[in-house]
Amino acid sequence: MRPSEAPLFQAEAIARRVAELAGEINRDFKDRDTLLLPVLKGGIHFASDLMRQLDIPLRVDFIRARSYRGTESGGSVEFLVLPTETIEGRHVLLLEDIVDTGRTTHALLERLRAGAPASLSLCTLLDKPARRICEVHPHYVGFEIEDRFVVGYGMDYEERYRELPAIYVLEEDAPR
Ligand code: IMP
Repeated sequence: MRPSEAPLFQAEAIARRVAELAGEINRDFKDRDTLLLPVLKGGIHFASDLMRQLDIPLRVDFIRARSYRGTESGGSVEFLVLPTETIEGRHVLLLEDIVDTGRTTHALLERLRAGAPASLSLCTLLDKPARRICEVHPHYVGFEIEDRFVVGYGMDYEERYRELPAIYVLEEDAPR
C-alpha cells in the first residue's frame, strides 16, 4: 500500500481551512477558559497549526485512545494517555484528525464528560460520515470525505506517512 500520487488535499488547502477553523474557534471561545485536547498521535500537525492561530485563554494537554475491533459494531476502547490538566469547569475542545466509525471519539467524549467540563466541543479535520456506527456530531469539520483511507498530515497506515505535509488516499501498489 502507498499514498496516491496526487494529494486529496494539498498543504495549502489544508492551511487555508485550518485558518478558517481557527477564526471560528476564536470567535466562539472568546473569553472562555479553554482546554485544547489534541488526540494523539494523528492530531499532531493539525493541533500545532491550529493552536498557533488561536487567540483565546488557552491551556493544552493530550489524550490518546486505541480501539479494539471485535465485531463491526462492538469492541472496546483503551485510554493510553489521559490529560493531567483539570477538566472540571473548563471549556474543553477535543481535536481529532479524523472521525471514522465514531467509536473512539464517542468513548473519548464520554470519558471527558465524566470530568464535568463547563462545555465539551469536538473539532475534526476530516469527517467520514458514511462510515459512522456511533453517533458523533463534530461542531467543527475541516473537510468531509468519502469512505477512503487517507494518510499524511499526522495520519498513518501502520505507523507510516504521518510526516507527509499533504493528505493522500492510500492505494494498492501498482502491479509490476
Ligand atoms: P473510529 O473508527 O472513528 O473510531 O476511528 C479510529 C481511528 O482510526 C481514528 O482516530 C484514526 O486514528 C484511525 N482512522 C480512521 N480512518 C482513518 C484513515 O482514513 N486514515 C488514517 N487513520 C484512520
